[in-house]
Amino acid sequence: MSNNEKATITFSDGTPSIELPVLKGAVGPDVIDIRKLYGTTGKFTYDPGFLSTASCNSSITYIDGDKGELLYRGYPIEQLATNCDFLEVCHLILYGELPNPAQKTDFVNRVMQHTMVNEQMQFFMRGFRRDAHPMAVMTGLVGGLSAFYPDSMNLHDARQRDISAIRLIAKMPTLVAMAYKYSVGQPYMYPRNKLSVVNDVLVRALDRIFILHADHEQNASTSTVRLCASSGTNPFAAIAAGVACLWGPAHGGANEACLNMLGEIQQMGGVEKIGEFITKVKDKNSTVRLMGFGHRVYKNYDPRAKLMRETCHEVLTELGLGDDPLFKLAMALEKIALEDDYFVSRKLYPNVDFYSGIVQKAIGIPVPLFTAIFALARTVGWIAQLNEMIADPEYKIARPRQLFVGATQRNVVPIAKRG
Ligand code: CMC
Repeated sequence: MSNNEKATITFSDGTPSIELPVLKGAVGPDVIDIRKLYGTTGKFTYDPGFLSTASCNSSITYIDGDKGELLYRGYPIEQLATNCDFLEVCHLILYGELPNPAQKTDFVNRVMQHTMVNEQMQFFMRGFRRDAHPMAVMTGLVGGLSAFYPDSMNLHDARQRDISAIRLIAKMPTLVAMAYKYSVGQPYMYPRNKLSVVNDVLVRALDRIFILHADHEQNASTSTVRLCASSGTNPFAAIAAGVACLWGPAHGGANEACLNMLGEIQQMGGVEKIGEFITKVKDKNSTVRLMGFGHRVYKNYDPRAKLMRETCHEVLTELGLGDDPLFKLAMALEKIALEDDYFVSRKLYPNVDFYSGIVQKAIGIPVPLFTAIFALARTVGWIAQLNEMIADPEYKIARPRQLFVGATQRNVVPIAKRG
């Protein structure tokens, strides 16, 4: 949204100063529109890691990191997590509004019609080693979907994008389940769209994990999806790029890394060794981080972590795991970190992955599958963000600039004369 405020940049090298428009969002920090900067001054801006750069405008998700607030389409995450199910939230993220009962029935039916994957998929899967990491398998399978749906590949056709969105939301759980079944050498099961509920608490916990992971502004994997799709590639290829990015331990891979970290501390001797571990985390010469802690945007408690923490206690109580040594260790670690000045002064709080890993472990989900569950949930966010970008009249292929610091032009010396 435009605004009459301006920002003036002056230069000490004689370049004339430039006045730039300041854009106001519906909420959140103002944004300086630098699009004309290069054309007018011949200068770029420099912001590795996008610490101060808005890469797009968006109406989907809003985070206030200082307040610890997360809104999907304006609705607080707390209200969505307690009043809606995952598919209602998918409808909200994808189409902008929560569904009414008729819309919900229609949406659920559409998704359920697409849960099956092409039978060829299982032969594709056989190419993987049984011990392949599920995220390696998912990256391949999701990219592979583009080989099956030539009828919904055109990013510039809104109807095709919608069909791809439904296909992706519907097929991701099937692919994750197949990746698991393959890894344990069991036969695949065809998706059953109506299951009897075995345990309300566990179903609620899983649904909450899905809702809390559904979207999260312009995070690394979402930005990857946008950047990848900006070339006009097909939706399946772009989502596969998102899956690949999510895998990293600084992002979605943190839930698995967190559980592995707890396992290591447990092996070192458990709760008594937390102090020793925290010393390593604080040591600037070590690369050890407290996984499941810290966030680029949240400088207050991650609201998703608050909700996941609640679910964590509910699930542990339901399963009688309150005294499980690993879970006791996690709770002790959380307490110590929340009181330690290193974490307090840097505003490092537990993030959603700290608790989601514990919940998934308690439910019995194998640790290497955790990030694939995250990917399944985030798919709706990725595809909604991709659709938003393509429908934006200001959309252009993403092409960042650089500050070049390498060798300037030089001449090739024939190989015999190179020292
Ligand atoms: N353990 C120890 N120190 C940390 C941690 C941590 N988990 N996170 C940040 N710090 C320190 C960091 O060393 C730096 O200290 P100093 O100012 O003395 O150099 C300071 O806090 C700021 O950290 P940063 O690396 O500049 O922050 P960032 O915004 O670039 O990184 C992060 C954010 C999430 C990558 C980082 O906090 C981290 O690596 N956390 C652990 C991995 C994790 O749990 N990731 C999941 C994120 S939430 C799920 C999702 O949405 O993907």
